[in-house]
Amino acid sequence: MDLLQMLLACTCFIIGAHAEVSELSARIVVVGSINMDTIIDVERLPRSGETIMTRIPDTGKCIPGGKGANQAVASARLCAGTARCSVQFVGQFGGDGHATALRQTLIDEKVDISVSGQHNDKTSGQGLVFLEEAGTVSSVVIGGSNVAWPDNIDLFRDHLKSAAVLLLQREIPERVNLLAAAAAHAANVPVFQDIGGEDRSISDEMLALVTFVSPNLSELQRLTGLPADTDAEVLAAAAMLQRRGARNVLVTRGERGALLLTDSGGVLTTSSAAVPGGRILDETGAGDSFRAAFAVAFIEGRPLAECMRFAAASGAIAVSRVGAVPSLPFREECEQLVKTISNESERGACHGADEEPHGVLSGDKGLQQDGGLDEIKFVPRFSSRLNAMKARSELWEGQSMSVLDWIARQGTIRGLSLVDLNFPEHFNSPQVTPEAVLHAVEAAGLAVGVINMRYPSQFRRGALTHPDDAVRRQAVDLTVAGGAMAERLGARGLVIWSAYDGYDYHMQMDYRKAWARTVLACQEVCDAHPDLKVMYEYKPTDENSRFSVVGSAGAAALLVREAARTNLGVMIDVGHCLMAGENPAQSAALLGDSLFGVHLNDGHSRLGAEDGLILGSVHGQMTTELMYWLQLTNFTGHMGMDTFPQEEDPVREAEFNLRRARVHWDRARRLRNAGLDELLTAHDALGALELMEDLGEI
Ligand SMILES: *[C@@H]1O[C@H](CO)[C@@H](O)[C@H](O)[C@H]1NC(C)=O
Ligand SMILES: *[C@@H]1O[C@H](CO)[C@@H](O)[C@H](O)[C@H]1NC(C)=O
Ligand SMILES: *[C@@H]1O[C@H](CO)[C@@H](O)[C@H](O)[C@H]1NC(C)=O
Repeated sequence: MDLLQMLLACTCFIIGAHAEVSELSARIVVVGSINMDTIIDVERLPRSGETIMTRIPDTGKCIPGGKGANQAVASARLCAGTARCSVQFVGQFGGDGHATALRQTLIDEKVDISVSGQHNDKTSGQGLVFLEEAGTVSSVVIGGSNVAWPDNIDLFRDHLKSAAVLLLQREIPERVNLLAAAAAHAANVPVFQDIGGEDRSISDEMLALVTFVSPNLSELQRLTGLPADTDAEVLAAAAMLQRRGARNVLVTRGERGALLLTDSGGVLTTSSAAVPGGRILDETGAGDSFRAAFAVAFIEGRPLAECMRFAAASGAIAVSRVGAVPSLPFREECEQLVKTISNESERGACHGADEEPHGVLSGDKGLQQDGGLDEIKFVPRFSSRLNAMKARSELWEGQSMSVLDWIARQGTIRGLSLVDLNFPEHFNSPQVTPEAVLHAVEAAGLAVGVINMRYPSQFRRGALTHPDDAVRRQAVDLTVAGGAMAERLGARGLVIWSAYDGYDYHMQMDYRKAWARTVLACQEVCDAHPDLKVMYEYKPTDENSRFSVVGSAGAAALLVREAARTNLGVMIDVGHCLMAGENPAQSAALLGDSLFGVHLNDGHSRLGAEDGLILGSVHGQMTTELMYWLQLTNFTGHMGMDTFPQEEDPVREAEFNLRRARVHWDRARRLRNAGLDELLTAHDALGALELMEDLGEI
């Protein structure tokens, strides 16, 4: 290590330490993506097979972007004039005209691109961004040269070792990030990993190499499978990343500023800066300019609290201007804006990281909760049926196929957050202990969703309603044990569904007794676990009992009312609604606060079959309406995919399901924004259909 490296290692690695401003400038290395974005204004997206004209003839501007390039340019602009730092970008350029323009952009910004790669046979990375009149932004990304990295990093390894800091994002292959992070880490160079970019999980190996991992709220929620709506939830989720090996977790919270959970358990927050001009024009590049500014301030040795304010100012400037690279801030304006950020919401002194105990997670030094807190909307997290992972096992590279392997296989489903387990079905083998399950779930980057009761066949003549007191007792005890398992695994609830609580023949059952037993059993389970949400999943008919004791939303609502327990609610299953002749949205609306969970799927509703088909595959409008009513009733409960892939690759099928769920969720939000709530008040069917037509939703 030469003198400079030693100096940098000392000044930069110790968090919060003041670096002596070196005469030699510190080098920020950004390894990442570069794109040419083409921004296209359209009235609406074309439908498949359709050709449309743009909204205005003079659109289609090419604007440089890509998270790597954005962070490089932002850093360069913030370093400019200080002589304290310089910036080197390592990316891969294509062999087209875009590449020439992109190169020139970086050179003009004084970014060193000397060790970037060049691929004459590849297109440049590109983003085709469609701006719809209603404000929705959709894009198509062309990987091109951004995904054409050499097998090793020999060409720039030495540059990493002598860097002051390495900035990574997630728009290039993960293996490159890993190699770069490992090289930097080995040389004591701090690594910043922005979670923005591709929606992929992050390995514990990577987390261990990274000094700062920086997700935004939805990314934090996705990575951990935990809610990240309130600050307490953000801290708990950040702490989970630390349990997986992360060190400092820097979370951007949009309009609410940022929160940093440090290695030593300190918590720092900053509010966001006032947006210059008072209006958010375009959020593109805001996260990148935030992270670049944080890194610049960090290597200048500024206290962490100041790093965060500088970063917040940088992000605010970026949203006040349109485009990625063109919106990135300059040093001077950033320094000016920083002065306006109030210091009040900051907790912990400049060097306070070490002074803050970890107990702050539950402590009363509550974080400042500014007015914007309620604006963070519920972001649904999804589970998927674990038994679906048994299907098409030849497509799974794992060896055996046990419960723990299915969990690992679920970990490969992009966008999945939660695992639901069946009790006692999934716990029948001695290997499947609660510890082993928790370990497998965490290793898969997931969390436990709910525990579903599956009564064994000894309860053939009834579980919670069995005529024999002793057998019924066993069933209730088993359900209470299921609740204990749910609590042990940190699940969000226990789902009671019983194939056997019903009858096949007339003159077979005393309905009043069966009902009263169901009410009593639910009360007992709820009272045994007062902190656990217990969800009764109704189903009208099953191959095991032609009629169920609780077969409709109405009956389930009555059950909740009669049991009179605040921790008892209902699980709706879309397929069960269809069998019952119910419209799921109406059932959800009827149940309101009693709706604790939703099983998402679809079916043809013929012959009473429970098809367990992909969500929205048969009833698109119905699915959107369900999501709409979940939003209208402020639903924040459990959402699980309850589908039965048989021929399909279950991982691909689950990913498709999750994508559809989000599409319907977003569609519902667009309809709300466009005024559907008012049309409902007028029972205006045609008005609603025309609204959907206008939005291109039908
Ligand atoms: C987080 O960033 C991603 C892009 O990296 C973006 O799609 C998402 O909307 C952001 N989430 C929030 C809550 O801002
Ligand atoms: C916030 O604190 C910093 C020093 O930590 C100070 O320079 C700055 O002026 C303060 N800002 C405001 C708005 O009080
Ligand atoms: C849902 O939340 C909004 C905003 O907090 C509130 O105005 C509305 O009354 C709530 N709706 C229900 C059904 O609770």
